Amino acid sequence: MAMRKILTDKEPALHKVCKPVEKFDLKLHKLLDDMQETLLDANGVGLAAPQVGILRRVVIVDTGEEILELVNPTLVETDGEQEGPEGCLSVPGKYGLVKRPYWAKVRAQDRDGNWFEAEGEELIARCFCHELDHLDGIVYTEVMERFLTEEELEGE
Ligand code: NI
Repeated sequence: MAMRKILTDKEPALHKVCKPVEKFDLKLHKLLDDMQETLLDANGVGLAAPQVGILRRVVIVDTGEEILELVNPTLVETDGEQEGPEGCLSVPGKYGLVKRPYWAKVRAQDRDGNWFEAEGEELIARCFCHELDHLDGIVYTEVMERFLTEEELEGE
């Protein structure tokens, strides 16, 4: 495994629509392994391939119990609403107020191409939505209500 550099939202790669993964080969497996190492090192909850400069529909999410690998993911069902602070490894040091569904279900392929579904609430649902947005070139700062102030963050 190897660490990859996390790009900031000033880079064009963060604003492009990513292409579907078609080959479930060693190159994809290495990308997923590297993304996992990079995410764990950065203490993040989720990471999308465009954040490491790869314009493919690949996301990983650390649920606290496991690292979910989502290849070609789509949001298939959502329920409820939550509003809260959201951050991004590509927007270091800042947090915004973002509305997301309270619960979300995604359908995706694993690293070998097998389809599966995963669901989560609260932080996991927020993370699914945030990371899938990355695959369409959307950074949370484009959908947030506003940035949180230092005072608000200290109160969290
Ligand atoms: Ni992000």
